[in-house]
Amino acid sequence: MIEHTQRLPFVMRATTPIAWRNDRAIATKLMGFAATELGSSLDMLRAAERTDDARLRRLYFRHGLDEARHAQRFRDAAKRVHPEAAEQTRAHEKLHARRMDLHEQLGELPFVAFVHSAEARAKAQFEVLEAHFASHDRAELATLFREIGKDEQRHVAYSGAILDGWRAAGRGAEVDRALRQVRLRAAWQGWRRAGRRIGDVMVRVLLILLFVAVLPLFALIQRCARRRDEIGWRHSGTQSFGSQSLGSQSLGSQSSPSSLDELRRQS
Ligand SMILES: [Fe+2]
Ligand SMILES: [Fe+2]
Repeated sequence: MIEHTQRLPFVMRATTPIAWRNDRAIATKLMGFAATELGSSLDMLRAAERTDDARLRRLYFRHGLDEARHAQRFRDAAKRVHPEAAEQTRAHEKLHARRMDLHEQLGELPFVAFVHSAEARAKAQFEVLEAHFASHDRAELATLFREIGKDEQRHVAYSGAILDGWRAAGRGAEVDRALRQVRLRAAWQGWRRAGRRIGDVMVRVLLILLFVAVLPLFALIQRCARRRDEIGWRHSGTQSFGSQSLGSQSLGSQSSPSSLDELRRQS
């Protein structure tokens, strides 16, 4: 076997309890898996259509059917765990469950190298999740990942056997180069995904900090504005009384009454 599936990434084990923290998160993740599996199924069936090798066509076709079944099982599990969250992610699923035409883009040998590498990662991830749910008394989910993990192991095995066959036929350098490229591609995509998540967190933290910093400033400005309004009201009230006095003056006498007594005298 070419791929070293026993090297489970530490990050995967460390982040699992956070990513799968409650029923809503579990259902959302399961729907994400369903989308990925459905996309894989479409790509495998497309590869079955395109290949000239009858043996590979059979293997690709069976693989495609497996992935379609996995998609359905993940979707059903999501609905059982949290129906509302599962329904909310239907649009996301439709968006991501797409064929990528990898067989067309890569060619036969790099395509099998890609499948082998991707299946090995899926198998490793499902082992982590099976252990996680077994230790959290979620037997149904542990069984789901164990059973689907067995299929992924079969996909790792058949794709590895094809690559080994090509090695034996003198195409070892080609196989090695293809595996290096798909690992680099996977690492790059993983880095981009992590970068996006880190970016999301950073934006949230910055917005919270901005809110915390700006809110007291607005409160201060509002307080100052209120105080100025109060002062302005008192001031304008005095002016208003004065102008009324002037108005009376222009209608009646030329002299300005300065007190109540004077007003009485003038009347
Ligand atoms: Fe799968
Ligand atoms: Fe698979």
